Amino acid sequence: MSELPEHVAENRRYWDAEAPKWVEGGRSLWAGDPVWGIWQIPDDEVSLLPVELSGRRVIELGCGTGYVSAWAHRRGAEVYAIDNSEAQLATARRLADEHGMADIQWVHGNAESVDQPDESFDFAVSEYGAAIWCDPDVWLPEAHRLLRPGGELAFLGNHPLAIICAEPTGAEPVGYTLERTYFGLDSVDWTEAVEDPGGIEFNRTFEAWMALFRRVGFEVLDYRELRAPTRASGVLFWTPAEWAKRFPSEQVWWLRKR
Ligand SMILES: C[S@@+](CC[C@H](N)C(=O)[O-])C[C@H]1O[C@@H](n2cnc3c(N)ncnc32)[C@H](O)[C@@H]1O
Repeated sequence: MSELPEHVAENRRYWDAEAPKWVEGGRSLWAGDPVWGIWQIPDDEVSLLPVELSGRRVIELGCGTGYVSAWAHRRGAEVYAIDNSEAQLATARRLADEHGMADIQWVHGNAESVDQPDESFDFAVSEYGAAIWCDPDVWLPEAHRLLRPGGELAFLGNHPLAIICAEPTGAEPVGYTLERTYFGLDSVDWTEAVEDPGGIEFNRTFEAWMALFRRVGFEVLDYRELRAPTRASGVLFWTPAEWAKRFPSEQVWWLRKR
């Protein structure tokens, strides 16, 4: 633990403590068809996973309760799933047993530094895992190293606009005022938050994401700004549905290793 970067150690502590709250949500997502992000957008509208993955090696970076890995496995992939929280992995292993998916490899570790050879995966995916909890300057080069040339990475996380409109103390949901400085957007530290304190996330400005992809050696295949569907209501993860019908609360990047 003492050798982990500070944000990784803090996020491990946070997620080990949070894990019990994620068991039931994970269970229902394991049982269903793929849906994406907090608004559960159907797979035929937005998908992080190719429909056909037979014979392909897939890595999920920050797998949590493991439902994305389960969906990739159902599409034929050989799956390696890494997570920083032993408690989250315990849920993933239990659900894999219940679903008879004994051959998914669940690995406890930091997605910024994965103990696998260069170019050993065809596809990498992260939904709110490494995508938001790892330092992009570190995890994106690592994902690039792990992919074979032409291999692809898809990741989903908070839209920068939602972070800019989130009150830094976490006391209020995402709102209609700009609460943070956009330029220089980097780590988003919730350890001092009054509501649900803990965890250190990351995000970037669009310019910085694009520059980083170029520097690391990824080309952008596609980009989507997710909108809450009309059926959505209430506040999910500090984000009011009514806000997310007007502004993008989530983003998805699809990249290919050059
Ligand atoms: C919200 S979950 C996302 C996973 C999955 N989509 C889900 O919702 O269950 C966030 C996960 O990222 C993991 N995580 C945070 N930092 C990580 C790191 N450095 N390496 C690997 N996983 C990490 C946490 O342990 C947690 O299980």
